[in-house]
Amino acid sequence: MGSTMTEDFNVRLVEDVKTYTPDPQYKKNAWMGDYQKAYNDFLADKDGFWAKMASELEWIRPWTSVKEWNYPYAKWFIKAQLNITANCLDRHVKGQRRNKAALIWRGENGAERIFTYQQLLGKVMRFANALKKIGVKKGDRVCIYMPLVPEQMIAMLACARIGAVHSVVFGGFGSAALKMRIQDASAKVVITADIGMRRGKTIQLKSIVDEAIVDCSSVEHVIVLRRQDPQIDLRPGLELDFREIMAGAPQECPAEVMDAEDPLFTLYTSGSTGKPKGIVHTCGGYMVGTYYTSKYVFDMKDEDIFWCTADPGWITGHSYIVYGPLAVGATVFMSELTPDYPDAGSYWGLIEEQKITIFYTAPTAIRMFMKLGEIWPNKYDLSSLRIIGSVGEPLNPEAFEWYYHVIGKDKIPILDTWWQTETGMHMITTMIGEPMRPGFAGRPIPGVEVDVVDKDGNSVPPGTGGLLVVKSPWPSMLRMVWKDDARYRVYWETLKGVYTVGDLAVKGKDGYIMILGRSDDIIVVAGHNIGTAEVESSLVSHPAVAESAVIGKPDELKGNSIKAFVILRVGFSSSDKLRQDLMYHVRMTLGPIAVPQEIDFVDKLPKTRSGKIMRRVLKAKEMGMDPGDISTLEE
Ligand code: PRX
Repeated sequence: MGSTMTEDFNVRLVEDVKTYTPDPQYKKNAWMGDYQKAYNDFLADKDGFWAKMASELEWIRPWTSVKEWNYPYAKWFIKAQLNITANCLDRHVKGQRRNKAALIWRGENGAERIFTYQQLLGKVMRFANALKKIGVKKGDRVCIYMPLVPEQMIAMLACARIGAVHSVVFGGFGSAALKMRIQDASAKVVITADIGMRRGKTIQLKSIVDEAIVDCSSVEHVIVLRRQDPQIDLRPGLELDFREIMAGAPQECPAEVMDAEDPLFTLYTSGSTGKPKGIVHTCGGYMVGTYYTSKYVFDMKDEDIFWCTADPGWITGHSYIVYGPLAVGATVFMSELTPDYPDAGSYWGLIEEQKITIFYTAPTAIRMFMKLGEIWPNKYDLSSLRIIGSVGEPLNPEAFEWYYHVIGKDKIPILDTWWQTETGMHMITTMIGEPMRPGFAGRPIPGVEVDVVDKDGNSVPPGTGGLLVVKSPWPSMLRMVWKDDARYRVYWETLKGVYTVGDLAVKGKDGYIMILGRSDDIIVVAGHNIGTAEVESSLVSHPAVAESAVIGKPDELKGNSIKAFVILRVGFSSSDKLRQDLMYHVRMTLGPIAVPQEIDFVDKLPKTRSGKIMRRVLKAKEMGMDPGDISTLEE
């Protein structure tokens, strides 16, 4: 199989029909074993399909109608009331799952912590009461900037318990990125830890917060989880100790009654401008979408131990470490360990030790494992695994084959799940038991309608590349971009009537969809979205830089790497030292994930007559390709 890219997104796919069909037992035992029937049922009664899913959960007050579609604005489960934590915790504590492990956590230093559903509910209620005591109310925004520890999950659930809107910021972001997110959401409280741990090193999270909140007038308190001994000092009044405020809080905290359309959280994602977008998800629809996909796509059963290697700082962690699996009543495994520390067997050792049954990771990690060799996974007993998944970027056929043969032992289904921060839940995959095609994510899941279209919105024939679109609203879709309606509308108004994803895709003859990559100025590096404009504005905030342009370059491991072109200000000259300084500057402002791997110093950048930098030309030149139409180029 191969595809060639011509012009903008004109792809011709040469199909080979290689498929792998899992053991029929998978289909037989799956919650949703008949994809086609489920999809047809959905098409026959779309609202009925979602009402049925929603009915599996507990509501304080039922909905009067399933949805209201006032293009481009959707509302789901009209007038219904609920609290997502009542579904993630109380629902299970009332029944058979009370003493079941909700969360098993492993830290870098061998530490292990286990929380039953009852214990987790207790912690969440105490922390929720602590938040209330310092004045956090329904609707207030709380920024969570924490390492991958149980308290991160507890903080998220505690916010949801009292109706505060959490805004989780990945612990790998730098101070400027954190500041922008705190300011945009006007967060009242920031929850952090003294340190994070990664590959045996400590990351000073608290000092990044100190720097970030200097001009954040909205912040009334910083709550600090102190992990280090001796403990760091806290500034009286402003800073509070996580455990102390929790210990002093009452045990019972009833779940706040939330309208289905009340916001549950905001999560920032990169866009085509320097300013990230605060994607807003609501309580009802998001709960139904993450519950449905956790149960029916991951096929989670009570006996499963589910491990998603993401960080709750990303949407993958929100949906498939915290809310979805807990709504289903699963056992979630969570770990601060990285795949290559203390050695390249760390993940496989954890799978053996914990008897993980469903494992969900990213193509970047899979490609890294490929490079390190089969010797590492082969040292461990991986026979507990029954489903393996992938998310974040295209799972290329070579990585698929390796994952299937080496980890899946030629029998375990791979779920290559395509979705986004904005979609909240899985949208395209190959449901358990269906034939899998390397390179193709699969088909839209029941409940979701997608297509591949040309620039005018016309459906393109199989084998032809185009823009991926979603044709109708779904419960866990973003409701707005925080304080920026114009940017929300872009999703639904770029092409009339459909949601434009921002990805290029191609459909196979059988309707399977292959994702080709982004169609816009976003670079997906190791599964993380990075806006070219964000990196450019970080670079120009350095005193030596006059102008910059940033492109993505294919990278064997990370999918893409970042390359920057920089024009220096008068009085500065290029040097390796300056190059290192610029890299350090991006690391400190945006974080390590956004650091360019290469920086070229140049005198000119290709621009249109209106002054817009043509990154496409830079990219084509970089890759030795024809830059296409450059008639609009100024210089
Ligand atoms: O380009 C697609 C890629 O990641 C983008 C969404 O990024 P984000 O909002 O950070 O969410 C990532 C985790 C859900 C998409 O527009 N992407 C995500 N999953 C896949 C993918 N590309 C190809 N195949 C996937 N399975």
